Amino acid sequence: MRVAVTGASGFVGGAVCRELALRGVRVFAYGRRASVGERHLGGAVYRSWDIARGVLHAPPPVDAVIHCAGTVTDWGPVPGFFATNLEGTRNVLASFPGTRFVHVSTASVYDPHVPTVMATEDQAPVTRYENAYGVSKAAAERAVLAAGGPSVILRPHAIYGPGDTTLLPRVLGAVRGPVLVAVGTGRQLLSLTAVWNLVQACVLAAGKDVTGVFNVTDAEPLPIDDAFAMILQERGIRARRIYLPERALRPVAAAAEGLFLLAGSARPPRLTRYALGHLAVERTLDIGAAREVLGYRPGPTSFAGAYAW
Ligand SMILES: NC(=O)c1ccc[n+]([C@@H]2O[C@H](COP(=O)([O-])OP(=O)(O)OC[C@H]3O[C@@H](n4cnc5c(N)ncnc54)[C@H](OP(=O)(O)O)[C@@H]3O)[C@@H](O)[C@H]2O)c1
Repeated sequence: MRVAVTGASGFVGGAVCRELALRGVRVFAYGRRASVGERHLGGAVYRSWDIARGVLHAPPPVDAVIHCAGTVTDWGPVPGFFATNLEGTRNVLASFPGTRFVHVSTASVYDPHVPTVMATEDQAPVTRYENAYGVSKAAAERAVLAAGGPSVILRPHAIYGPGDTTLLPRVLGAVRGPVLVAVGTGRQLLSLTAVWNLVQACVLAAGKDVTGVFNVTDAEPLPIDDAFAMILQERGIRARRIYLPERALRPVAAAAEGLFLLAGSARPPRLTRYALGHLAVERTLDIGAAREVLGYRPGPTSFAGAYAW
């Protein structure tokens, strides 16, 4: 089997490449940067390709494409999100026309203004989002479906694991001495996605003759406080978790965003209103369709080995 993987220089794409290489699949890995360490790719052939700039020159024949590339943040100029997440996705589709296409989307396509309670796939996309990430990822899903080829869209939520640049660093960055300040009550339920579970779904989707949209998370949701406790324990950090209502933290997040904007910072503040709104309430997904149609068998949420990179 021959598979092209975009976003291979990143967290998810790298993990997908390593798993495919272990299975003896011939992997063609693409990322924007000029080069990537061999260990990250499991030995896959790497080529630099900025998907926002156009189609791939002389694409190799492949059996499937696993599209992991994306602008993944809640910060930064709006055009950049659309250039990569929407136009970039169109360019990847056009580079491999008619080829089985596994699109790594996100649970951010669900309505951010209301709690997400065991959401099923038909509840997204919606018409209103809070930021360019959500709008551009929803538009990318529509582009994949409009292309009309055999496609699978995967919607993970809050991916963690070795090499994670988002979730675990943000949680650890919120620890101040003996305290971790967080939002909500601590009992709000959350579906998380271990990168090894997402990789399993990508491999299944690339190799099976199925199409559709699938939520992809760990086996069961858990209260956010349990997740924080497990993360801190794995790092050997003793910190008391203190939960504050969203309305108390929102002005702090707004002020932080204002200061970072004025300073022209390319990086977001630790606290953004989007992150607060996202974590303050339940965010859980129904994964029945992935279990039934893809044969997805996720492991439970566990941070064991999540820092081993
Ligand atoms: N991380 C999460 O919690 C999370 C949650 C839900 C869904 N997702 C989705 O999962 C996918 C992978 O995310 P990730 O966490 O692996 O992000 P990541 O570590 O930031 O990796 C992003 C990848 O996309 C590549 N990329 C960005 N812009 C590009 C461009 N213009 N042309 C070519 N490649 C480009 C990057 O290449 P360079 O680094 O070489 O520039 C990198 O390989 C994304 O589609 C994201 O929407 C992530």
